[in-house]
Amino acid sequence: MSLLAASAIPDLTKMGELLATDPDIIHERDAETNASPLHYAAQTGSLAAVELLLQHGHPWNEVTFTHKTAAEFALAQGHNHIWDRLLNEGIRVEMLLAILGKGEQDSDTLDLDEETKAKLLPVDASDYLNKKLTYSEDGSKLLDEDGNGVMMGWEAPLMERHAMVIAPAPGKSVLNVGFGLGIIDTYLQERGVAQHTIIEAHPDVYAFMLKQGWDKKPGVKILFGRWQDVVDQLEVYDGIFFDTFGEDYDALKEFHELLPNILAEDGIYSYFNGLSGSNPFFHEVSCAICESDLQDMGIETSIEKIDMGSLGDEVWDGVRRAYWTLPIYNLPTCLFSM
Ligand SMILES: C[S@@+](CC[C@H](N)C(=O)[O-])C[C@H]1O[C@@H](n2cnc3c(N)ncnc32)[C@H](O)[C@@H]1O
Repeated sequence: MSLLAASAIPDLTKMGELLATDPDIIHERDAETNASPLHYAAQTGSLAAVELLLQHGHPWNEVTFTHKTAAEFALAQGHNHIWDRLLNEGIRVEMLLAILGKGEQDSDTLDLDEETKAKLLPVDASDYLNKKLTYSEDGSKLLDEDGNGVMMGWEAPLMERHAMVIAPAPGKSVLNVGFGLGIIDTYLQERGVAQHTIIEAHPDVYAFMLKQGWDKKPGVKILFGRWQDVVDQLEVYDGIFFDTFGEDYDALKEFHELLPNILAEDGIYSYFNGLSGSNPFFHEVSCAICESDLQDMGIETSIEKIDMGSLGDEVWDGVRRAYWTLPIYNLPTCLFSM
């Protein structure tokens, strides 16, 4: 009997025997779907079978050819306890890897194969600043040379809410990192902010900002450059929003480390929460890690769940990859703990 077959029952005795005889059998995969023993065990709802596989070194984050995790297989059958167990395993492993300095050699949050990375992680934008960008005529899209969506108009209701969160009353001093289509900056202006600093790194976006006269708006200060390169020009703000493009979790974490120096004691911080935005399980693992890292810095996160309904396939017409496919958007509000 194969380990896949034993896991699908699950026959714990047989699984134990197979693993004892040949530990490499843990790598057995369904040739048609790439489902792993963990997918099969998770689907049965047997915690004992899942534990046995994890104890024998089964990765928590294997995906099928259609990019489904074992946790999603479990949830589809109503086995929430298996989802929770795998969620904890993902958080535990990723935090351990971060502590061991894995992030310095490999900046991906989740240790995935190349094809899955292409599907689930931010685009590789190492050369992003040298690529030409295009604003669509109707103003609803900003795309890079490869057709990746840098910013899209469907995010407008989210940006409106983020603006309300970081500037709850008029007269605030705010910092926005990443201009894109200028959606959140427009909402911030409408909310009567007094001081409005915008950091933008891409020359094409900067040129667009100047064309639209953002440099002449009262109270607006544009810092042209990567946020990493203008840190010494930052002040202390009542509200901060972060939404760049093609940067990974390590960059977000690095930005978070600046917060104690640039966010007022009673200030409010928020970020575009697109972490692993095309897989529900990886999204939850990433959110938990991010919240925990912020908590370690004395910053508490509360999440507002926003129902995204169905965006529809049309919004992605002409865009290389749908970077958001989840039904719920988790909008973070971050405050220093008392
Ligand atoms: C997703 S868009 C921001 C959209 C914006 N929130 C809005 O409401 O339209 C990301 C922006 O961040 C800029 N960007 C990317 N990396 C950056 C960096 N390291 N520093 C500053 N800006 C960056 C991009 O050029 C792009 O304009």
